Amino acid sequence: MNNARERIEPIYSAYRFPGKVAENRLVAQAMEINSAADGGGVGAEIVDRYVRLSRGDWGIVFVEAVSITEGYLARRKGLVLNEKNLDGFKRLVDSFKGVNDKPLIMFQLTHSGRQSGDFSKRIKAYEDDDEAVPVATAEGIDRIRDGFFKAAELSRRAGADGMDIKACHGYLLGEFLRPLNRREDGYGGDAGGRAKLLSSIVRGVKADFGELVVGTRVSLYEGIRGGCGTAGPDEIIEELGDMADVLSHIVKAGADFINVSAGIPPVTPGITRPEANSAFNLYHHFRYAKVVKEAFPDVAVIGSAYSSGMEKSGELAAENIEKGYTDFAGFGRQNLADPLYPDKLALAPDAIDRCVLCGGCSGLLKKQKRVYCVKYRRGREED
Ligand SMILES: Cc1cc2nc3c(=O)[nH]c(=O)nc-3n(C[C@H](O)[C@H](O)[C@H](O)COP(=O)(O)O)c2cc1C
Ligand code: SF4
Repeated sequence: MNNARERIEPIYSAYRFPGKVAENRLVAQAMEINSAADGGGVGAEIVDRYVRLSRGDWGIVFVEAVSITEGYLARRKGLVLNEKNLDGFKRLVDSFKGVNDKPLIMFQLTHSGRQSGDFSKRIKAYEDDDEAVPVATAEGIDRIRDGFFKAAELSRRAGADGMDIKACHGYLLGEFLRPLNRREDGYGGDAGGRAKLLSSIVRGVKADFGELVVGTRVSLYEGIRGGCGTAGPDEIIEELGDMADVLSHIVKAGADFINVSAGIPPVTPGITRPEANSAFNLYHHFRYAKVVKEAFPDVAVIGSAYSSGMEKSGELAAENIEKGYTDFAGFGRQNLADPLYPDKLALAPDAIDRCVLCGGCSGLLKKQKRVYCVKYRRGREED
């Protein structure tokens, strides 16, 4: 074995979840491509993207944000998981496993809440001065929880290996976790109250579908006053103790993994997606994963933002895994730039199409356009 391959060897060890095995530690993070068929269904472009990722030999592939409701959508062409669209999701999983049965495929289930577009309904977790957006009522919260349960059942029927209950990046479930959430009906206030909705979803899904891998993606620090990762509603400075308390409730509810991200893309994009020459922000992501791993050693931790390590990302991932700072290394933009990344990293690193962090894909998403990698035209080769 040559030295370069030896240095990344820790990536290629299997990870055992209860009932499922990830063959390696490389994760294709959820990346919306805003290309669903009418009504949020799975069309050929979506299937193509995940078939390519399957060929790439990732340990885990997260299917981009899949809405549990047609009513609250952040993207005009976002995916929606309902009975009507179920056959499409089955086709997606069958095609994915048909080319390679090793990678795990997990759906990222979401409610867009306040981040839904102006073409859609919007809802928020707690009272603030944005009067245009209503606060979720107690009955509304019950409906949202039921919506996640239904989507979990549909995910299992579609054949997914697991699911990520999305509570990161400012989407609805993440808003509940913030110190800013002072609701007085049991769904706000102390860490247990703020974690109540998310932990009840995780607990319920695990109870009914314990054979599946269930976890959540959170923004450990959002970079807004009173946001996740601060000590109180009027604090801006990062203090992670409160989020550790919040997460202890999610872990107690039975989460198999915590997918650690940061930031709110429309508000603090540089935190979520470190730019070129901003290694400092990437190292914050490494620290966030390490903090969660140290607090919850028995839960799988997935780190984020590895694309911004560019040509060093493979070695950085291996180092963090070997040192026990994370269990998995998650790549977003790099999986769009080159879905075959894991395979090439192992066998032909010079052949990797490296993400150059140009921001082209994020720009397309922001404009509600179909997302593809503008540098390599990946996902647009036919044009
Ligand atoms: C075009 C685009 C779409 C994204 N879609 C999602 C998504 O559906 N769900 C999610 O949790 N994060 C999403 N993200 C964030 C990525 O998963 C990832 O956290 C971010 O790009 C930083 O990681 P990276 O440096 O490896 O790209 C998206 C990012 C981009 C650029
Ligand atoms: S468009 Fe730019 S930032 Fe996005 S994946 Fe391609 S190279 Fe990376």
